[in-house]
Amino acid sequence: MGSGVARVRGIELAYEEAGAGGPAVLLLHGFLFSGAMWRGQLEAFSAEHRVVAPDLRGHGRTTVVAEGAATMEEMARDAAALLDELGIERVTLGALSMGGYVAFAFYRLFRERVRALVLADTRAESDTDDARRAREEMRRTALESGMDAIADSMTRKMLAPATLASRPETVAFVREMILRTPAAGAAAALRGMAARPDQTSLLPEIDVPALVLVGGEDAITPPRSSEAMARAIPGARFEVVEGAGHASNVERPAEFNRALADFLKDVKRDA
Ligand code: MLT
Repeated sequence: MGSGVARVRGIELAYEEAGAGGPAVLLLHGFLFSGAMWRGQLEAFSAEHRVVAPDLRGHGRTTVVAEGAATMEEMARDAAALLDELGIERVTLGALSMGGYVAFAFYRLFRERVRALVLADTRAESDTDDARRAREEMRRTALESGMDAIADSMTRKMLAPATLASRPETVAFVREMILRTPAAGAAAALRGMAARPDQTSLLPEIDVPALVLVGGEDAITPPRSSEAMARAIPGARFEVVEGAGHASNVERPAEFNRALADFLKDVKRDA
């Protein structure tokens, strides 16, 4: 497993990478996470795939562009520029939560580069007015009081009760990742998420193989809404990761990887 930094579109974009050959898989993380959240997948899939997991703008070690919003479209263009830098043309695009919002933008912009889609713990709808107000409040808190002020509540929101009660190393990993996110980066992403367009009209137009995954106890994007999203994508597969909350790939990597492995195998066979 290695890491690098690419200079693309005026920023330094950090990424983790594993596996030299095989069909490429690009993994996009959720809000307040970084490419590090995919380590369990980088490790598991590197034997048969080239797996790349960038830190999206404002997150991890990637440049914070604090002016205005870090839109989902900007993040999608960053990801495409990284693929250009790495000489990768087409990918299976895997994404969790905010990464999913970026994946929808990526699919609209660069449809020909997407071999298959994996959408975990995410949604196609845009924000409600209440959600936008809550984002503004979180933005102010992060900028005025720092990530300390939101790390505990966000960790609790993201993880299933069983994870919080019995997996202290996972809880610490998630909390640390939140604390390492620059407050200005989080603030810009909050504005970007609030501004994202509704993507529900895209779902019936998706014509690549798709897998929708969701933690059985995801309180942020609940299974019921994920199932509805899967039903709207022609031929999509739907899997519930039992015992996981919103960070399904981090909380239950074995179960998540089993579903992903089955899907990748079928995509490879049908390619
Ligand atoms: C995420 O995990 O990326 C966030 O929960 C997404 C959101 O706040 O809508």
